[in-house]
Amino acid sequence: MDQLFFEIFNDLPRQGPGSHASTSKAVSMVTNLPDVPHILDLGCGTGSQTIALAKLLGGHIIALDKHQPYLDVLSQQAQKEHLSNVIKPVRGDLLFLDFPDQSFDLIWSEGAIYIAGFKKGIMSCKPLLKKNGYLVVSEISWTDSVNRPSELKEFWNKEYPGMKSIQESLKIIRESGFELVHYFPLPEEDWWTHLYHPLNARLKKLREKYSGNTEALEMIEYVQKEIHFREIYADHYGYFFYIMKKSEL
Ligand SMILES: C[S@@+](CC[C@H](N)C(=O)[O-])C[C@H]1O[C@@H](n2cnc3c(N)ncnc32)[C@H](O)[C@@H]1O
Repeated sequence: MDQLFFEIFNDLPRQGPGSHASTSKAVSMVTNLPDVPHILDLGCGTGSQTIALAKLLGGHIIALDKHQPYLDVLSQQAQKEHLSNVIKPVRGDLLFLDFPDQSFDLIWSEGAIYIAGFKKGIMSCKPLLKKNGYLVVSEISWTDSVNRPSELKEFWNKEYPGMKSIQESLKIIRESGFELVHYFPLPEEDWWTHLYHPLNARLKKLREKYSGNTEALEMIEYVQKEIHFREIYADHYGYFFYIMKKSEL
């Protein structure tokens, strides 16, 4: 089923919600970086946001992911855009970050910090940041506290049991010793243009390819369910950029 997983998700423009516009908006909230910033992009995937960061900020960017085929796509793209001198794709595990303390001016992570869990993820980044360094993550958060539909709760409890509300996330940021610079929701089109629309088309094709294969079809319908829930329950959860600063060492 691993093979089908990659057939579903490989070659999509992005592997999580997002857009160039949202990355740029978050970058605009990061001020006073050095001329040649050292940047770590965690869980970069095929690196849509890495390319955006390279164009907007330059510097030295380590783009880390554990899935080599995604890094290969990023390498090709970086070459095409003449950014190979800026972007260094690195195969690694964000659960075991192995960089010297205070290595980075900026740590970026779109749609991947959840892999460690919000609190553990941001805490593991903190020592790696220089004083006044920034941590910018996008993360799925509950936007409601009451009347959460049970089927939606059940789905996300299974997919991401540690999913927090916005208020809980802000509390974690405060308690972790970061200064909250800003946070904002990704617009609805960030779920669709580069992710759910292409994914819908992919699922349609795979449904035909795997017709009669019960196990494969179950997996396809499970992914379809995530898209369907976004269509009907968008009021209950969203994707948010959280922009944090490490003001003190
Ligand atoms: C939802 S995708 C986000 C990708 C990209 N940042 C984007 O927004 O399009 C999560 C990424 O985290 C990577 N990943 C999963 N577990 C990881 C781990 N333990 N260490 C590093 N990367 C991991 C996946 O391969 C995938 O590329």
